[in-house]
Amino acid sequence: MSDYRLNTKCVQGGYTPGNGEPRQIPIVQSTTFKYNTSEDMGKLFDLEASGYFYTRLQNPTNDYVAAKIAELEGGSAAMLTSSGQAANFFALFNICENGDHIVASSSIYGGTFNLIDVTMRKMGIDVTFVSPDASEEELNAAFKENTKAMFGETIANPALTVLDIELFAKVAHAHGVPLIVDNTFPTPVHCRPIEWGADIVTHSTTKYMDGHGAAVGGAIVDSGKFDWMAHAEKFPGLCTPDESYHGITYAEKFGKEGAFITKATAQLMRDFGSIQSPQNAFYLNLGLESLHVRMARHAENGQAVAEFLTTCDQVEKVTYPGLVGDKYYDRAQKYLPDGGCGVVSFELKGGRAAAEKFMKNLKLAAIETHVADARTCCLNPATSTHRQMSDEQLAAAGIPAGLIRLSCGLEDARDLIDDVRQALEAI
Ligand SMILES: Cc1ncc(COP(=O)(O)O)c(C=O)c1O
Repeated sequence: MSDYRLNTKCVQGGYTPGNGEPRQIPIVQSTTFKYNTSEDMGKLFDLEASGYFYTRLQNPTNDYVAAKIAELEGGSAAMLTSSGQAANFFALFNICENGDHIVASSSIYGGTFNLIDVTMRKMGIDVTFVSPDASEEELNAAFKENTKAMFGETIANPALTVLDIELFAKVAHAHGVPLIVDNTFPTPVHCRPIEWGADIVTHSTTKYMDGHGAAVGGAIVDSGKFDWMAHAEKFPGLCTPDESYHGITYAEKFGKEGAFITKATAQLMRDFGSIQSPQNAFYLNLGLESLHVRMARHAENGQAVAEFLTTCDQVEKVTYPGLVGDKYYDRAQKYLPDGGCGVVSFELKGGRAAAEKFMKNLKLAAIETHVADARTCCLNPATSTHRQMSDEQLAAAGIPAGLIRLSCGLEDARDLIDDVRQALEAI
């Protein structure tokens, strides 16, 4: 589908049925696959032939959907994972091991921050966090001999900072390492990080890609552009024989285009088994078929609600990269010219008490630990995800007690604004 435009790829990418085959992608609800001879199966185990043998590693339904996501992001190969967490873990762990180091933007999703800062440190992988606004010199200074990857989020959840992808990619490449970008919030409809120099793109497909709050999932896309062999000493996992896989050297056998995803599938899926269920992949594909239509409305609604909030006396501050005057407005114009996403954050005057009243009085927007759903939802970190922290601790973490994260859905923007207005009036 490479000749078609993005909207067409959303609808028809990844799967082209032959004569008399199902129009919709088939759900291959089978753990295993049958072969006539041991030699046939042996070729699959040796990675000499492509095919399926066990759904813990690969499944045709997943591969149709992964191929669509690869087309949308402009990558060479992709895989689905059981969640966004698994996608980010696999993307990093595919190239980092005990004794290695990562440079990551400090402005990323809390779950990813914890993964890198706590769990991966326990695995012996060190990290240096950098500001998303760091200068080239500051970014360079964060690198060490053992740095193997740089990581950031296009639009960060929940801070809504916008990553300077071009700068991050330039610095990562100057140090001979790939840039991994979590592109969950804008989706490829609004930003394609590979076009700006990113090497690997990850997604929590649980968010806009699924878009209906139906299925947890993740995806990893490889640009196929990073030359692993040119930096072979840094990436032994890709550039030296894998004794756990019959001595295959992934970068040699599968080249720049195939090495990363083949290794992640053959090694990490085999050992960790964090695969997306084919049923969830089917739901994800339903979401992808309308992603281009939905993202435009999410961004329109986010923009309209953010602009309304700037006119409200009860509101101390509104953060939305599409707002003129937002700290990230210029960067958003560059990387997200058609809009970003539907998530808006704002701080209420009156702190925790005002936030509690506001949330209680919302009628359309539901209180949920989720974003990027067709239905508008919202969260006050101080009374939910961060409720164990005092107001002083929250302030130190840059999360005011009166902060609200509102994820604008696909409803009529006028109804969303009316809902927010009446809840503000009730404070
Ligand atoms: C930007 C981002 N990346 C990754 C994740 C983790 O994804 P999941 O919840 O699918 O594991 C999230 C979850 O909110 C997210 O917002």
